Amino acid sequence: MGAIDITSRDKMEGESKVKIEEERRGEAEYMKGVRHLYDAGVTKVPGRYILPAPERPHIVSCGDTTSTHNLKLPIIDLSLLHTPKRAMVLEALSLACKEFGFFQVVNHGIPSEVVQEMVEVSKRFFGMSYEERAKYMSSDLRSPVRYGTSFNQIRDRVFCWRDFLKLNCQPLESVLPFWPSSPADLREKTIAYANGTKSLFMELMSLILESLGVDKKFLAEFDDGSHLMVVNCYPPCPEPNLTLGMPPHSDYGFLTLLLQDEVEGLQVQYKDQWVTIEPVPGAFVVNIGDHLEIFSNGIYKSILHRVLVNSLQNRISIASLHSMPVEKVIGPATELVSESRPKQFMDTDFAAFLEYISSTEFKKKNFLESRKLTCTRDQRTEGQPC
Ligand code: OGA
Ligand code: NI
Repeated sequence: MGAIDITSRDKMEGESKVKIEEERRGEAEYMKGVRHLYDAGVTKVPGRYILPAPERPHIVSCGDTTSTHNLKLPIIDLSLLHTPKRAMVLEALSLACKEFGFFQVVNHGIPSEVVQEMVEVSKRFFGMSYEERAKYMSSDLRSPVRYGTSFNQIRDRVFCWRDFLKLNCQPLESVLPFWPSSPADLREKTIAYANGTKSLFMELMSLILESLGVDKKFLAEFDDGSHLMVVNCYPPCPEPNLTLGMPPHSDYGFLTLLLQDEVEGLQVQYKDQWVTIEPVPGAFVVNIGDHLEIFSNGIYKSILHRVLVNSLQNRISIASLHSMPVEKVIGPATELVSESRPKQFMDTDFAAFLEYISSTEFKKKNFLESRKLTCTRDQRTEGQPC
């Protein structure tokens, strides 16, 4: 009797040891990212990636086509700025920033080869062996190069189905030596692309300041502004209904310029629904970040967005996040604060944001919410939530 007990207990302990060992091995595999899982031939989404039912994407599939609500974002054609239609372009831009927080830009002046070569070299980067990519792994949020998976792989309880390469692009000369040395042409292609997106950002910011009625001298603040490039890779996923490429979030900077390849996946929240942004060849999707919502005193909106994955195609997107220099304090522009529109946000800086994302699990729009001033004017104290 006693002997049987001991044997069965030993067996149970043995089994749980095996289970722990398996889990540990599984954990180590997840840390290598989803491209690695895909290359290893996963046929089911591992438990670590499965979202609680209410957070799943509800993709409706008919045959092999996926039907979701699609949205045609307002298109801003920059070539019209030099024509009598300029005022109309500014009006359309202002409306898009207020109503959608998103728009697309065409005739943006970045040569199509620069854009295509960036997408192509990104594909080659993620096509390299895991060992080659892993050389750039870092958990330091300030590192000039950071390869990783999910959103924050140290903290995320549920992982998302994306791998990323984050390249700090400012100041270019000092960060360049840290960028990946393979593929051999990655640096050259990325510099051309980074210069192109920086100029486009400056042009768009100039128009945005004009549309808000804020003095253009402000533009100089962005000359040495922060510039982060995030190359996202979303490999095919065997069960795309159970997970997301990126959870609902807003971007922290002033503007994000997003280049998506021909595979759709980006969804934005519009009138309480998730709607898919159809890729427009050669266009950039531009969205307002938290800093611009703060700077515009809430007039322009930083909108939640997320990424769906699919079972058939790999998807690449490249996000360029632009803001002021990291040490700058950002607050509502004085021109946009008045008796009838009091200050809606506390001043903030990049250090506060980094502290925020390092200390909490990055969820939805919490950072912006945390900067909101909701109390009466008499109680309002700078830098302190009331
Ligand atoms: C981002 C982002 C969307 C996409 O990188 O912040 O929202 O389609 N990307 O990859
Ligand atoms: Ni984003």
